[in-house]
Amino acid sequence: MVTDEQRMALIEAAIAVRAQAYAPYSNYPVGAALLLEDGSIVTGVNVENASYGLSNCAERTAVFKAISEGYRRIFAVAVATDNAGSPCGACRQVLTEFSGDVPVYLVDGSGNGRDTTLYALLPDHFGPEHLE
Ligand code: THU
Repeated sequence: MVTDEQRMALIEAAIAVRAQAYAPYSNYPVGAALLLEDGSIVTGVNVENASYGLSNCAERTAVFKAISEGYRRIFAVAVATDNAGSPCGACRQVLTEFSGDVPVYLVDGSGNGRDTTLYALLPDHFGPEHLE
C-alpha cells in the first residue's frame, strides 16, 4: 500500500530529477522515481547519445541504479515529462521484472497527469514465471 505522502514524495522526486536529464537531441527530458522495499526512492533520467540508438530512458536508468544498489522490489513508479507522457514498451517490460501490478504516476512538470498501473500499461507481459 502506497500512502499519499509516499505518492507525493515520489512525484516530487521525479519532477526534481528531471532537471538532470541529458536530452540535447530530443529536448524531451524525463525524470523517473521508484519507491523501493525499504521506503527509499531511487531516481533516474534519460541519457541520450550522439549515436541516438544508444540513448537510455529515465525509467530504465532508475531501475538499473536501484538494482545496482541491492534493491529487488519496486512498489510504485513516478514519471515526469513535459506532457505526462507514458513509459515506452521497453521500460514497461523492464519494470515488470521487479514489480507486480504497482501504481504508476504520470505527471507533467507541475504534477498534473494521471495515475495508472503497470499491468494496465503492459497486460499479458512476459515474466520470470515463464522461464520456470
Ligand atoms: N524516454 C524516456 O526517458 N522514457 C520513456 O518512457 C519514453 C521516452 C526518453 C527517450 C528519449 O531520450 C526521449 O525520451 C525522447 O524519446
